[in-house]
Amino acid sequence: MSNNFKQTVFSGVQPTGNLHLGNYLGAIKNFVELQKKMKCIYCVVDLHAITVFQDSKELKKNMLETTATFIACGLDFKKSIIFNQSSVSEHSELAWIFNCISRIGWMNRMTQFKEKAGKNKENASVGLYVYPNLMAADILLYKATHVPVGDDQKQHLELVRDIAQKFNNDYKSDNFFPIPEPLIQKKLSRVMSLRDGKNKMSKSDESEYSRINLQDTEDEIYKKIKKAKTDSEPIPSRIEDLKNRPEALNLINIYSFITNKTLENTLDSMAGKDFSKLKKELSDALVATICPIGKKIKELKKDEKYLIDILKKGSNKAKEIAKININKVKDIVGFISH
Ligand code: TRP
Repeated sequence: MSNNFKQTVFSGVQPTGNLHLGNYLGAIKNFVELQKKMKCIYCVVDLHAITVFQDSKELKKNMLETTATFIACGLDFKKSIIFNQSSVSEHSELAWIFNCISRIGWMNRMTQFKEKAGKNKENASVGLYVYPNLMAADILLYKATHVPVGDDQKQHLELVRDIAQKFNNDYKSDNFFPIPEPLIQKKLSRVMSLRDGKNKMSKSDESEYSRINLQDTEDEIYKKIKKAKTDSEPIPSRIEDLKNRPEALNLINIYSFITNKTLENTLDSMAGKDFSKLKKELSDALVATICPIGKKIKELKKDEKYLIDILKKGSNKAKEIAKININKVKDIVGFISH
């Protein structure tokens, strides 16, 4: 990849209420770290959200709650750009151009569309189908070079790279768009459900006991960890011995990540001990990290004006960059802009 590009991080998060430990450890904690090293742009993606119908009141509430969660977790709106996607209309403009670059054959390979559309594909929205083209627009509008994403978005990011490449080739504009790199967390495997170590921790799981929500109280956290599924074996000394013990692995994984230890460190200090000991330390660590975040989210949610103002300031900063780049794109494509 060319080095002409300033390193820029871009990531998008869908507006959802009640974000949980999986969202925090899998994404937001990393966003906070990245702020220290690079210029970061974090976007709450409302245009993506409506690819599946959203109640309008609920959408707005979720936008504000996600913003509050960002801030409560330590994203710094003075340092990074934090904004709502729909307020920078250049995203939609570039997405249209990318709809014309991207190929139907490419879209048809997207596994997330197949999963989300389910059996009744004919009834899925066209927006859901071209969802990854909008994602390409999000990233490339800022010429972002690095994109922190979860495992499930790897295929979409591959497509974003293909779109960037094809645009550059078709319009003979070598190196106009950077080919963005995914940033996938290596230290942490996915945070799984506390009830079933083979399923991802998810907001749509029926059981509240399957997840730790960022706004859970101390009592709820202790109760949930106490009830978390394990097995009857003690904690092993080697990682290999956790292979067929998904629930055990999950708790050790969460504990290690939240206390900034490697899996090896944790096993060294805990080998041979009972899970009740790990659970006690895990709950203490979770309460110490999560409860202050939860309290902050609840506090911030009360001040709608403040949250809207953060998004507005972020949108204005984003627009400055977006305008420059969309004008260059229009020029390359051959549009007459006034
Ligand atoms: N598709 C992403 C998800 O569901 C959200 C997203 C939208 C995104 N635009 C993005 C992620 C750009 C990274 C970069 O998680």
